[in-house]
Amino acid sequence: MARIVGGITTSHVPAIGRAIEKGLQDDPYWKPFFDGFPPVRDWLAKVRPDVVVLVSNDHGLNFFLDKMPTFAIGAAPEYHNGDEGWGIPSLPPLPGDPVLSWRLIESLVAEDFDLTTCQEMMLDHASMLPMALCWPDMKWPVRVLPVCVNTVQAPLPSAARCYRLGQAIARAVAAWPGDERVVVMGTGGLSHQLDGERAGFINKDFDLKFMESMRSGPAWATRFSTVELVQLAGTQGVELLNWMVARGALPEKVREVHSNYHIPISNTAAGLMVLEPLG
Ligand code: DHB
Ligand code: FE
Repeated sequence: MARIVGGITTSHVPAIGRAIEKGLQDDPYWKPFFDGFPPVRDWLAKVRPDVVVLVSNDHGLNFFLDKMPTFAIGAAPEYHNGDEGWGIPSLPPLPGDPVLSWRLIESLVAEDFDLTTCQEMMLDHASMLPMALCWPDMKWPVRVLPVCVNTVQAPLPSAARCYRLGQAIARAVAAWPGDERVVVMGTGGLSHQLDGERAGFINKDFDLKFMESMRSGPAWATRFSTVELVQLAGTQGVELLNWMVARGALPEKVREVHSNYHIPISNTAAGLMVLEPLG
C-alpha cells in the first residue's frame, strides 16, 4: 500500500536560486537559511520517497488574474521550469507520473473538490527551489504531482478547506494500489508582504504560533478567515495555505523531525519544518 512517510513545509523566495547559482550558502546573509536543509536531506535519505505531492501557488506562470483556479493539479509526464526569478542557467525538468496524478485527481473529484486538471504545467520558484534545496544535485530521485492553490487573488480557499484538501490527498494516496513512499511538500509563507502600504511586513509572533500549531494542533489556523490570515501574515504570507494542505495530509499526531526559522530572506520570514506521522 502506498503511504505518506512525512511532510516538508518551507518558504520559497526566488533569490534562493541566485544564491545557489553563486554558491552563497556560507555567506553570512544566507547561512542561517541554508543551514536548515542538511537535516532535511539526511531525513530524505532515510525515508527514500518515490513521489512528492508538491503543493505551492503559481506566480503568474500558468494562471494569471484573468483565469484563476482555486485548486489545480498537474498530470504531465514532466514539468519544466519557467521563472524570471530563478537564476540557474540550466535546470533538469522534474519527472511527473501521469497515472498517479490521475488517480489523485479522480479521488479528489469524487470527494467533491473542483479541480483544474493540467496536462501541461510549468513550475516556478515556488516548486523548483524547495526541490533544489532538498536534492541539490538536481538528479531528481522522485516523481512529482504538483498541486497549485490559489493564494494570489481573492477569493482564496479557506484554511479549513485547504486542510480538508490535504486530508483528502491522504485518503487518495492510501487507495493507490502500489507501494509508493510519498512525501507531501507545502511551500510558501511564512509572513511577508511584497507590495502596498505594508510592504516588508513580517509577523514573527504569528509565524511561531503557526509553526507550533503545525506540530501540536493543526486546526488552529482554520479559526481565521483568509482576510484575517492576510492581516496576520501579509498578502503573500497567506501562502501558508499551502502548508495547511501539506499538514492536512499527515495524521493529527506527528513527530517533528526538524524545524528552522530565520528572518529575513529577501522580504520573507523563512520557515522550514519536517514532520513524520506518529503511530
Ligand atoms: C519573495 C517571496 C515570495 O513568496 C515570492 O513568491 C517572491 C518573492 C521575496 O521575499 O522576495
Ligand atoms: Fe511566493
